[in-house]
Amino acid sequence: MGIRAACCGAQIDPDGARRARLPAGQAQPTPVLLYTRVFKAMQTKYPIGILGATGMVGQRYIQLLERHPWFEVTWLAASDRSSGKPYGEAAKWRLDTPLPERIAKMTVSPAEPGAAANGDQLAPKIIFASVDAAIARELEPKFAAAGCAVVSNSSAFRMAPNVPLMIPEVNAGHLRLIEEQSWRRESGGYMVTNSNCTVMGPVLALKPLVDRFGIEQIFATSMQAVSGAGYPGVPSMDILDNVVPYIPSEEEKMEEELLKLLGSLDGHVVKPLNARMSASCNRVPVVDGHTVSVSIKLGRPAAREEILAAWAEFRPLAGQGLPTAPEQPVQWAPQDDRPQPRLDRNRGNGMAVTVGRLRPCNVLDWKFTVLSHNTIRGAAGATILNAELLASLGKLG
Ligand SMILES: NC(=O)c1ccc[n+]([C@@H]2O[C@H](COP(=O)([O-])OP(=O)(O)OC[C@H]3O[C@@H](n4cnc5c(N)ncnc54)[C@H](OP(=O)(O)O)[C@@H]3O)[C@@H](O)[C@H]2O)c1
Repeated sequence: MGIRAACCGAQIDPDGARRARLPAGQAQPTPVLLYTRVFKAMQTKYPIGILGATGMVGQRYIQLLERHPWFEVTWLAASDRSSGKPYGEAAKWRLDTPLPERIAKMTVSPAEPGAAANGDQLAPKIIFASVDAAIARELEPKFAAAGCAVVSNSSAFRMAPNVPLMIPEVNAGHLRLIEEQSWRRESGGYMVTNSNCTVMGPVLALKPLVDRFGIEQIFATSMQAVSGAGYPGVPSMDILDNVVPYIPSEEEKMEEELLKLLGSLDGHVVKPLNARMSASCNRVPVVDGHTVSVSIKLGRPAAREEILAAWAEFRPLAGQGLPTAPEQPVQWAPQDDRPQPRLDRNRGNGMAVTVGRLRPCNVLDWKFTVLSHNTIRGAAGATILNAELLASLGKLG
């Protein structure tokens, strides 16, 4: 077996960079989190279970974890349609890298914490979950109650007051909310969620601007890939040669999640960002990669060079050794016709978002375009990065 991460010693403050820029005399926020960044080699990897392993996001977990230095997939679960079958038979593999042989041979387990396939091991204590919200609402609490760290992709608990909705570069301090969960006290289990795939790009692009200039209004229009609807997703007869200007609940999710993600922890709850947000969501005939046009009104005027500098200097995880963290999470594309899904979605191994077309807005202050890979940065990669942060904090047991 390979390497297991263990932490020691070094402490950093994720809000430190922001505090350093505050004007003299202004109240300094309390450090929200102290966490470690030095890793030592150990003998084993963390065993990972995947709930929803046969789906679009489940497949991405398998692909991204294949050579992961800290995590190893040891348990796969999906619906009754799949359980009891070898994964290679149950899943219609849709990715452009081969299905790993070891995974193809694994038997899909029933989706229960105590379930074992063919006498194999029970569900491990770390679960990466990617099932529909209605199913997650029923299943995820069972795993948390059984003592599992549930790192989830679903929207079911994202807005629950005691559940962190987390992007490590943006709001690592919100992780403290896991201590508010009854599962944590009773069994040690807890739940952490990552964001909706569409909001990921705008939030990463806006975070450095919120910190430096403040933001009062946000207007966002998305052009979302078909893979965002899972497999088989939108029928080809509906999406080819077409744009569908409606994705159920997507606009509501974008609006409320963006404000929670950019909000601040106030005692035991997250105080949402005090800004007005309006989203319009569209499905377009692109396979992977969500593009969002964003217009913003800032809290104070900022020149183009200041905005570009805020993006370029935004490296909150630099030097922490989280394997999936991109070196430069927000990458600027200077060309007039970028970002584009086909050309830019794989930047930073699919974990960096690309911004371009920064220009003045005649209604608000500035407008730009942001692109992110929806099943990597917006889904499986986001879960994995959250789990890496949890591991680095010693929260994975
Ligand atoms: N696709 C994206 O870009 C994206 C991005 C962010 C978040 N998400 C969220 O991630 C979740 C999964 O999305 P997806 O695109 O991967 O969907 P998907 O392709 O439809 O996959 C759904 C998965 O859930 C399993 N499942 C269905 N019913 C189940 C049950 N009763 N018990 C246990 N497992 C069950 C399916 O197993 P079977 O194969 O056996 O049916 C499959 O593995 C959703 O909540 C979605 O909103 C998706």
